[in-house]
Amino acid sequence: MTDMSASRPAKRVFIKTYGCQMNVYDSERMHDVLRPIGYAPAESAEEADLVILNTCHIREKATEKVYSELGQLKLMKQERGGNLTIAVAGCVAQAEGAEIMRRQPAVDLVLGPQAYHKLPEMIARASRAVGDRLETEFETLEKFDALPKTREADGPAAFLSIQEGCDKFCTFCVVPYTRGAELSRPVDDIVLEARSLAAQGVREITLLGQNVNAYHGAAPALSNEADWTLGQLVRHIAKIGGVDRIRYTTSHPRDMDDDLIAAHGEVPEMMPFLHLPVQSGSDRILKAMNRGHTADAYREIIRKVRAARPDIAIASDFIVGFPGESDEDFEATMQLVRDVNFAIAYSFKYSARPGTPAADMALQVPEEVKDARLQALQALLRDQQEAFNRSKIGETVSVLVTGKGRNPGQAHGRSPWLQAVHFDGDAKMAGMIVDVRVVDASLNSLTGELVNVHEAAL
Ligand code: 5AD
Ligand code: SF4
Repeated sequence: MTDMSASRPAKRVFIKTYGCQMNVYDSERMHDVLRPIGYAPAESAEEADLVILNTCHIREKATEKVYSELGQLKLMKQERGGNLTIAVAGCVAQAEGAEIMRRQPAVDLVLGPQAYHKLPEMIARASRAVGDRLETEFETLEKFDALPKTREADGPAAFLSIQEGCDKFCTFCVVPYTRGAELSRPVDDIVLEARSLAAQGVREITLLGQNVNAYHGAAPALSNEADWTLGQLVRHIAKIGGVDRIRYTTSHPRDMDDDLIAAHGEVPEMMPFLHLPVQSGSDRILKAMNRGHTADAYREIIRKVRAARPDIAIASDFIVGFPGESDEDFEATMQLVRDVNFAIAYSFKYSARPGTPAADMALQVPEEVKDARLQALQALLRDQQEAFNRSKIGETVSVLVTGKGRNPGQAHGRSPWLQAVHFDGDAKMAGMIVDVRVVDASLNSLTGELVNVHEAAL
């Protein structure tokens, strides 16, 4: 199907990624699909023959960025006499495929998140200017099956997608429409990919899914067991040689089952970090969001998780200014934040997304009220984040070294709690797990001194 002759001049592709970690993963997979047909990665659009924007549709701002970037690329294409292929991938492509083509005719290809395995075919078609330039069908399993099972690892930490899509239909969210229905990959496929990563020196794997703890993938082929849960999968992946650290993201409170919680206490490879979005602390708003749980139910889950793993860092997402949110509702969110105490959290102003139920709700909150609430919430969350980081001062923490640091003689890595750590070392240490004594901390990172290189765990 593809011409792999060595004489073909190397082409270069630049993929610009917006949005969530799922897109980061998908961009890596697009590189995997393009490499065999002669596309090497480029550092920038200027150096590339093919530019792919892997887009995000979650909030209006993210979507608008895509159109302004496309305007720039159009100029670049004109300057080169048309010698640039422009592709739009990801969730904006899925949601507004035809609209993109209409608004920006310089775009050659539009492909949704389920169509990445078709990239080579689409590029060939675009170069001959024949056939469809738009692929936004939902064929999730086909995508998982068609993508290469092995990966080219890039550094000691990697994402691994185990589940895509979402059936929860929170009333503010476009994901169920752009990523489609929930679908879990079979355990055997995931293990194959994890082994391939570990063989290339990957030591930390983050299992990815829009609703990752709703995972229910086919059990190993020879086992005759019912579908596995995330808890079972994590325990299994922990046994793969070389995999020292496991994380998963993003979760839903409704799927936080007891076995998964127990795994946080029982599996040493499971990192003490849980990203569990709550969105609001008001039961009335949670109901209008169709979240399917109360604020107290969330508090109870956190209590259980901390009982299983006392040092666990809790992360979350919040939306302020959801339609109908009163001062009292917002105060309930602030109270929940004070009660739980988050290590890190992401907070957003509600953004009405066309086609979602909340976009048509009465009592949309004025922009200036959203602004004020966001400021108050972020100030509180910042204080908690800084306090959490500072609580590590004086402790010796294990750090997975990911590369060189900001200054010469410095290395950079991440702690079990996903904090960035800078310490005295060099890039040659990348891939090692070392002990660092934390001497200082700020809002965004820890600074420490190297104590010990303990590769005995290898
Ligand atoms: N407006 C604002 N924030 C949103 N999110 C999802 N949809 C919207 C929206 N319409 C936030 C949620 C989610 C995170 C990925 O983005 O907090 O957890
Ligand atoms: Fe969106 Fe809710 Fe699904 Fe998360 S659980 S992807 S917020 S619909």
